[in-house]
Amino acid sequence: MRLILLGAPGAGKGTQAQYITEKFGIPQISTGDMLRAAVKAQTELGIEAKKVMDAGGLVSDDIIIGLVKERIAESDCANGFLFDGFPRTIPQAQAMVEAGVNIDHVVEIAVDDEEIVSRMSGRRVHSGSGRVYHVIHNPPKTEGVDDETGEPLMQRDDDQEDTVRKRLEIYHEQTSPLVGFYQDMTGGNAPEYHRIEGVGGVEEIRDRVFEQLG
Ligand code: AP5
Ligand code: ZN
Repeated sequence: MRLILLGAPGAGKGTQAQYITEKFGIPQISTGDMLRAAVKAQTELGIEAKKVMDAGGLVSDDIIIGLVKERIAESDCANGFLFDGFPRTIPQAQAMVEAGVNIDHVVEIAVDDEEIVSRMSGRRVHSGSGRVYHVIHNPPKTEGVDDETGEPLMQRDDDQEDTVRKRLEIYHEQTSPLVGFYQDMTGGNAPEYHRIEGVGGVEEIRDRVFEQLG
C-alpha cells in the first residue's frame, strides 16, 4: 500500500504516521526527518538545507525528488510506504506520476492555522527516531524523555512562531494546490482521496483515519 499524508505543518502527519506505518507494516518516508538527519550529520546537503528550513522555506524540488527516488528504491519499500511531508509542490507530485509511482490513498489532515500555531510551541521530538510528542496533548511517559529510548527530547529549530507562520504561508501557496491535483486525477492510477478533520484527540483522529482506510 502506498499512501500520502497531506497537511499543513503541525497538522499531525508525523503523529498519525506512527500509527499507520505500524498497522500496515510499511516504512514512513518523511522528507523533513531525512533533511534533519542530514543537518545533524552536517553533510553538504544538510548545511544548505538548514538555512532554508530555519527560514521556513522549501528545499529545491530537484534535491527532494532525488532523495525520495533513492529512498523508495530500497528493499523495505517493496510492499509500499507512507509519504509524510512529500510531495509538497506540484512538480514533486508530477515527478512521481512521471516515474510511474502510483499512490493508493491520499489522506489529508485538515487543521486551521491558529490551532497549528498553538500546537507547535508544545511540540517535542526525539531526534534519533522522529517520534513526536506534545507537552499537553501527547506527553511522554516521563517528562522530557523519549518513551522507547529514554533519551532527551528536543524542540525543533523551526518551531518559533514567526517561522511557523511563514511555513503556513508557503503551505497555502505551494502545497495546498495538491488537494485539487489529487482530487482531479482520473483513471486507474488515481488515488482514493480522504479528508480527515484533524482537530480532536490524537487517538480519535487515528480512528478516523483507520475508518477511512478500511
Ligand atoms: P517537515 O518535517 O515535513 O515539517 P512540516 O510539514 O512543516 O510538518 P511538521 O513536522 O511540522 O508537522 P506534522 O504535521 O508532522 O505534525 P506533528 O505530528 O509533528 O518539514 C520541515 C522542513 O523541511 C520544511 O519546512 C522544509 O523546509 C523542508 N522540507 C521537508 N519536506 C520537504 C519537501 N517535500 N520539499 C521541500 N522542502 C521540504 O504534530 C505537531 C504537534 O502537534 C506535536 O507536538 C504533536 O504532538 C501535536 N499534535 C498532533 N496531533 C495532535 C492533536 N490531534 N491534538 C493536539 N495536538 C496534536
Ligand atoms: Zn512531521
